[in-house]
Amino acid sequence: MKFDVLTIFPRMIDFYITQSIIKRAIERGLIEVELTNIRDFTADKHLSVDDYPFGGGPGMVMRIDPLYNALTHVKGTQIKHTVLLSPEGTAFDQDKAHELSQMKDGVVLICGRYEGGDERINLLIDEEISIGDYILTGGELPALVIIDAVARLVPGVLGDERSNIEESFTSGLLDYPHYTRPAEFMGMRVPEVLMGGNHKEIEKWRRRQALKRTMSKRPELIDDAILTADDYKIMEQLKEEV
Ligand SMILES: C[S@@+](CC[C@H](N)C(=O)[O-])C[C@H]1O[C@@H](n2cnc3c(N)ncnc32)[C@H](O)[C@@H]1O
Repeated sequence: MKFDVLTIFPRMIDFYITQSIIKRAIERGLIEVELTNIRDFTADKHLSVDDYPFGGGPGMVMRIDPLYNALTHVKGTQIKHTVLLSPEGTAFDQDKAHELSQMKDGVVLICGRYEGGDERINLLIDEEISIGDYILTGGELPALVIIDAVARLVPGVLGDERSNIEESFTSGLLDYPHYTRPAEFMGMRVPEVLMGGNHKEIEKWRRRQALKRTMSKRPELIDDAILTADDYKIMEQLKEEV
């Protein structure tokens, strides 16, 4: 799966993708991240990517011509799904990550800066994506959030594919609690069931904990979660316990 990132700060992206899981995924050819500096596609001698807003007002606006030139260069004749990072976009979540992971021809991520891009950029993109209702300085962090979340879903990127299946949101529930050594820390013991080696009991305990956590931390997720008849029984018991 290939990501093309259009940015005026490629090194910000480069630092993250050359570490840890993403680095290994790139080395193993599972994902590809190509960074394109929008500044390389300017026509004037000052390499300007921004200009004053028509109509006045604070801040600068990203010019459409370098954005267009960079995007045309990256896409060529290919049909790549093109995303503008924008606080006005569709909220990014695990479902959106799954959707993007299916884009076999790759995904182009355009990182805005300043007050954002000239409005005419909307004619060149497939969608706008936001990573939350707050304003960041640029689209580089949102691009990395998307690359990271999507890359985890590409087969082979995680050492153990079960991580994806069991993780929060994938089944519609939050994750169950995790413990590692030491078995006792400052008087707090790891639940006995996890150390007993009975895998069926461990599975039952984890499911109960995932339901309990979701009910207490994110109850609104329960409505859309895929639940079994046993899950409903457990939830009834949990309600009675409170
Ligand atoms: C300072 S912001 C522009 C904010 C814009 N003037 C507004 O009020 O909506 C600069 C760039 O950062 C990126 N950005 C900022 N916050 C974001 C968010 N929550 N999600 C995705 N991208 C964001 C976008 O690419 C945006 O063009």
